[in-house]
Amino acid sequence: MALLTAAAVVEHTFVVSQMNMRHLCRDTLVTVVNGQLPGPVIDVTEGDSVVVHVVNRSPYSITIHWHGVKQKRNCWTDGVPMITQCPIRPGNNFTYQFNVDGQEGTLWWHSHVAGLRATLHGALIIRPRQGAASYPFRRPDTEIPIIIGEWWQQTDLVQLDRDLAGGNFNYSPSAATLNGKLGDLHYGCSGAMEEGHVLEVEPGRTYLLRFINAVLVSEYYIKIAGHRFTVVAADGNYVNPYTTDTIAIAPGQTVDALVVADASPGSYYMVAMAAQPTIIVPPFPVTTTRGTVRYRSAGAQQQPLVPVMPDTHDTDTSFYFHGNLTGLQNRQPSSSSVPTRVDERLLVTLSVGSMCRRQGQSSCARTNAETIIMVNLNNVSFQLPGGATESLLEAHYGRGLGAMGLVTLPDRPPVAFNFTDPALVQRGPREAWLEPTTKATTVRRFRHGSVVEVVFQNTAVMQTDSNPMHLHGHDMFVLAQGLGNYDQARDVVRYNLVNPPVRNTVLVPSLGWTAIRFVADNPGVWFLHCHYLFHVSVGMATVFIVEDGPTVGTSLPPPPANFPKCDGSRT
Ligand code: C2O
Repeated sequence: MALLTAAAVVEHTFVVSQMNMRHLCRDTLVTVVNGQLPGPVIDVTEGDSVVVHVVNRSPYSITIHWHGVKQKRNCWTDGVPMITQCPIRPGNNFTYQFNVDGQEGTLWWHSHVAGLRATLHGALIIRPRQGAASYPFRRPDTEIPIIIGEWWQQTDLVQLDRDLAGGNFNYSPSAATLNGKLGDLHYGCSGAMEEGHVLEVEPGRTYLLRFINAVLVSEYYIKIAGHRFTVVAADGNYVNPYTTDTIAIAPGQTVDALVVADASPGSYYMVAMAAQPTIIVPPFPVTTTRGTVRYRSAGAQQQPLVPVMPDTHDTDTSFYFHGNLTGLQNRQPSSSSVPTRVDERLLVTLSVGSMCRRQGQSSCARTNAETIIMVNLNNVSFQLPGGATESLLEAHYGRGLGAMGLVTLPDRPPVAFNFTDPALVQRGPREAWLEPTTKATTVRRFRHGSVVEVVFQNTAVMQTDSNPMHLHGHDMFVLAQGLGNYDQARDVVRYNLVNPPVRNTVLVPSLGWTAIRFVADNPGVWFLHCHYLFHVSVGMATVFIVEDGPTVGTSLPPPPANFPKCDGSRT
């Protein structure tokens, strides 16, 4: 029976504070919402209004970003420090108010300040108005959000962010987690294993697992021994059912998958393992966590079956997983057809660069002591405007952006070269390709309603990283991906203009590219960035400004009441 639920106002209070949590037999001071890690689930129905009162009792200035919520004509509540708002200072409050019209599926929320999102995050689930019977797939008996996280033992996550900006990348997570649990690959105190996440199942039942990758640094592979997944949605957009035994999920992304409890009753490990670039310097520990899928009818204390995981450096499994997704058409509200006219085309390289530590010096010895590593888009590394007294959005809405010292993001890289030449990975004379790298507050303006095509091109300059690129305020049609260098003449014919997947975070494959299109129809100032903390903190970001349309209904309204004021510090 299709029951139409009336739109509701769903209200939450998020008290942000610090507490000690004990893992690996040590206490770590963490910043959390309402004493929980992961934080509270926001569970709403399409069309509802969401009201979240944030009470900041932590020592840090913070903001909360509602990852994937389009915030139509509501850029004010997008929650990006100094881009859309001044952060909420310690001891202050701010109420975020937004609706979730025209969206269904699994999204999430997280702090947008520094590394704090490692512990300040939670699921945001939007259910269809017509109820679960209207899902475009077999109705699940049970739905469970599963957040992949990381445990950073005794790490000051705000200092971590500053250190990254200063060129110190000497950090790594201590463990991975499923719904906050480290699992039995790790020891707690006195030789006992850490607790793992347990999913109890009944034979024959169907489970909708809503996976969210909330980690700071890695793509993950997920498997459950003896079971297969049918992927039905990604980033809050339905996909044509895709059956696989391995899910690939990058930071920022969500994947909804059905699992049928159709194995012989017993215990099965659910494993999430970090995927790593093929060449990684310095080496980075592989974080793996596991929980258990346990059949209720099974006899107690069986040793769970272990799935065979892909190799940690296997980038193909991720490439094919992403390439095999197609969008589910004719399903409102999330489907719309791909625009065929393109108004603006950008080719954006995602690269590593180096700059002299002492600003203004054009050449310096290429030693670690004199240079600083940063990442960039088209050789410009993003930085926030210094000493700003208001956010870019407030300036844009008010006196204009003239005084902010903005630079236009170049539409293409300054030099064309063999971007994905594996020889570039090794440091050496070829580092000349790194130059010129500059730091600036880059923006790119778009007329309201423009259709924008962006090809994100990864480079091999010192790295083989993939990059999960997240655009705020808009979903993107993922037209195609490829390995090597993008070549318009050859690759345009490979575009899926029929049923591309629609995502808010697109993975640009290691030594490859991804082409997307989106309609710039949401007025405001929107952050575009890599969702790896180690990249966004050192400049793999820019800002897309979408101008007002011709009518009041296509323009940005005034800011909400009690909008936070800046105190002059950056975050
Ligand atoms: Cu999920 Cu700008 O972030």
